[in-house]
Amino acid sequence: METPIQVHWSAPADEPHMRDLLPAAERARYDRFARPEDKARFVTGRFLARTVLAARTGLAPESLAFTTECPHCGADHGKPRLPGHDVDFSLSHSGDRVVLAVAEGVQVGVDVERESDRDIDRLAEMVLAAPERETFAALPPERRRRAFHTYWSRKEAVLKATGHGLAAPMTALHLSAPGADPEVLAWDGDAAVPSVRLADLTPGPGYAASLAALTPHPLKVTEHPRP
Ligand SMILES: CC(C)(COP(=O)(O)OP(=O)(O)OC[C@H]1O[C@@H](n2cnc3c(N)ncnc32)[C@H](O)[C@@H]1OP(=O)(O)O)[C@@H](O)C(=O)NCCC(=O)NCCS
Repeated sequence: METPIQVHWSAPADEPHMRDLLPAAERARYDRFARPEDKARFVTGRFLARTVLAARTGLAPESLAFTTECPHCGADHGKPRLPGHDVDFSLSHSGDRVVLAVAEGVQVGVDVERESDRDIDRLAEMVLAAPERETFAALPPERRRRAFHTYWSRKEAVLKATGHGLAAPMTALHLSAPGADPEVLAWDGDAAVPSVRLADLTPGPGYAASLAALTPHPLKVTEHPRP
């Protein structure tokens, strides 16, 4: 049995008809972003989520009431969810990419990362588990940036599926090597869950993107538009 997951890609935009779908709290958050590119990524993600989930549920896009309560501290920065429906979704945005993953009956997480000139050797200490650091260090320098962002997006997708986000340590997750099929090899700590499936997505050159679903079953991922 395969678990179907739909992945929707968009470029950031900021049109009046998109802003019109934001309820007051989301509009207030939109207004607080100082940079136009942050406003566009945010409104595009919420527009994508509202239109796709409205089509699935039969509800009006502007009527969908997302909750974002953090299960750990109760603050308003948790994984967005749609209570009362057996559908889970996850949003991510980076650079010129906005992505939404949607599934029924399973928790999903998605992450897209623009490959940047960040200090990956320093970040590797904070992101990679000890065996991953060995794999990473053994790579030729020209392959390290790609490998680091692959690890990063896979790990963040897993932690967004559980809803922990960066509140859980990325170093506790031990994943397969970036060039291999993505899978969790070991996971210690409070955030760990028994069944995780991972898939790499196709965001185009200069980006890494991954999807995670908390299920023992293989995934059937469909990307829109198709890569
Ligand atoms: C979730 C998180 C990893 C996203 O990091 P990022 O790389 O900056 O951003 P991305 O674009 O990939 O993802 C952002 C989206 O993730 C979603 N999101 C937010 N919190 C989330 C969480 N805890 N789990 C899953 N998804 C989450 C939102 O849809 C958000 O999009 P929005 O801006 O439209 O609301 C990061 O914001 C985080 O860890 N937040 C939680 C912080 C926290 O829990 N702190 C203390 C706990 S008490």
